[in-house]
Order: sequence, then structure tokens, then C-alpha cells
Amino acid sequence: MYDFRIEAADKPTLYADLASALDGLVSGESDGIANMANAAALIWESLPDINWLGFYRNIGGELVLGPFQGRPACVRIPFGTGVCGAAAASREVQRIDDVHAFPGHIACDSASNSEIVVPLIRDGELLGVLDIDSPKHARFDAEDEAGCVRLAEIMARAI
Ligand code: SME
Repeated sequence: MYDFRIEAADKPTLYADLASALDGLVSGESDGIANMANAAALIWESLPDINWLGFYRNIGGELVLGPFQGRPACVRIPFGTGVCGAAAASREVQRIDDVHAFPGHIACDSASNSEIVVPLIRDGELLGVLDIDSPKHARFDAEDEAGCVRLAEIMARAI
């Protein structure tokens, strides 16, 4: 078992430490599912105020649930549906302060109030998305977005 303790006074430092730990955790392993599972566990332990964190994979143009932490979630999400589907279709980060105001939001966990979804892209191919939910409204700011994009870049090479 690995024991990472990532605590930092400010978000940029937190995400820098987290990116470094994640890189070390996944860089020696070629199995994408194992890497997503370990990444979900690591990020889950390191970020405060989140209630779901995980991966959806692009399987033939549909998002299919991958490794995650949190409550059981919806398995299949079409591109263009909900926050994850919007990220997949647009290939752009979706940072949503109030998910209840997002058209078509899929409420997998009723505790979720804000959400960030980051596309995982390698060599122009959409591999999936990293999805993080929070019970707090507007939990994710621009520093979280920059940090999560960095984590997604590491994962796009590891799956
Ligand atoms: N809320 C997401 C669905 C996935 S769950 O949050 C785990 C969405 O609207 O795409």
C-alpha cells in the first residue's frame, strides 16, 4: 500500500504535489484500468469537499463508467448529455458552479452541487473524461481547473 499525504497551504502547491505523486504512481504501469483506479484513490484522498471522483471512458462514441470513488453511478452517458457528455462533445473543460442549473445534468448523487469535468485527450483522440463532484456550490475555481487539467494530462498518457 502506498501512503501519500498531500496537504498544502495553497491550491497551486497542492496540485503540484498531487501531480508529482500521480506521475510517480502511474508512470511505471501500462495497464490503463489499474492506473485509473489508483488515480481515483489518490485524488480522492487529496482533495477536500468532494463526494464523487472518477473516470468515464470513450467506448465507441459513448461514455462508459470507469474506476471511481464515491457512490455507484450511471454507467453509460451519451456524448452531448449532462456535464460529462458536454465535456466529451466539446472537448472542453466543464466547470459548473451549480449543477442544478445545467441543462440535462445527470444527478447520479443527489449530494452533488458543483462539478468539474476534464477531457482526456492523447494525440487528438478523446480517451474519456475525469469527473469530480462536490457537495459545495462553486467548489471548483480557476486554480482547481488548472490543477485538474494537469492531472488529466498525466492520465491521458497513462491509460
Ligand atoms: N453528473 C454527471 C454524471 C456523472 S456523475 O456525476 C458521477 C453529468 O451530468 O454528466
